[in-house]
Amino acid sequence: MPKKINVFFIGGGNIARIVREDLRNHINLCWYYDLKKTDFDCQYLERFEIPQEVEVVVECASVEAVKEFGIDILKSGKDFYIISSGAFADEEFRATFLAELKNSSSNVYIPSGAIGGIDIVRAVRNYVEKIVLTTRKPPKAFGIDGIQEPKTIFSGNAVEAIKAFPQNTNVSVTLSLAVGNFEKVMVNVVADPNVNENIHEINIFSSVGNYTVIHKNKPSPNPKTSYLAPLSLAAAIKRNIEKFKI
Ligand SMILES: NC(=O)c1ccc[n+]([C@@H]2O[C@H](COP(=O)([O-])OP(=O)(O)OC[C@H]3O[C@@H](n4cnc5c(N)ncnc54)[C@H](O)[C@@H]3O)[C@@H](O)[C@H]2O)c1
Repeated sequence: MPKKINVFFIGGGNIARIVREDLRNHINLCWYYDLKKTDFDCQYLERFEIPQEVEVVVECASVEAVKEFGIDILKSGKDFYIISSGAFADEEFRATFLAELKNSSSNVYIPSGAIGGIDIVRAVRNYVEKIVLTTRKPPKAFGIDGIQEPKTIFSGNAVEAIKAFPQNTNVSVTLSLAVGNFEKVMVNVVADPNVNENIHEINIFSSVGNYTVIHKNKPSPNPKTSYLAPLSLAAAIKRNIEKFKI
């Protein structure tokens, strides 16, 4: 029998539904808090309050929700999974959260989300020179018409990218947290008439090797969210339930 856990979800939308389904053999009781009641198959709580039986809190809502409830969750001492890693782009919030974490018995997990290669970044982080994230989308995704050649519409480090392209924030922040330095992550955004899907290419340059990871993600029912993101969150939770951890 797989181990079963009691879960409190923040957000009962697209990601929560996929995670719930993927963890169907691993969830005992579950609750969720959302701004509104949704068709999510866990018990709805109208106010944010963590039931005592909860073992794991899973954020699948928004950057704002992490900032609003993050500190209270650390005070509760429950383990905490965060998919809206973009919250840590805010330096002040990051400092407050990490200071609180020192006095908390919570463990905090940031799943790899819509990208892979985080295992490589973690392993080589002391040897990394730079990481280049290039996101290619069809020109119409940026409201651009009539170009024949790929056009770079943004180039800068993760700090600048977060300001210029907030839709990519979770990915740039997860990479930056993994390498432990926001300035080592460079971001290019390209409007490319030769592609018809969203492509993330990550190039990791380090003194122990260079690595390239290319993602051609399919969207989930919420087209803004890659299917990989909720599945990586469910995989992170399962990894901590299973005794044999890959
Ligand atoms: N790490 C990654 O790579 C990655 C990838 C995709 C999405 N995300 C994050 O996941 C989040 C959820 O994605 P989704 O596809 O499930 O979106 P969704 O819109 O389908 O569901 C989000 C739900 O959260 C609720 N919500 C939002 N803010 C809230 C708040 N402050 N308090 C309570 N409930 C709140 C909404 O009402 C909604 O029901 C996104 O906002 C994004 O930040 C991360």
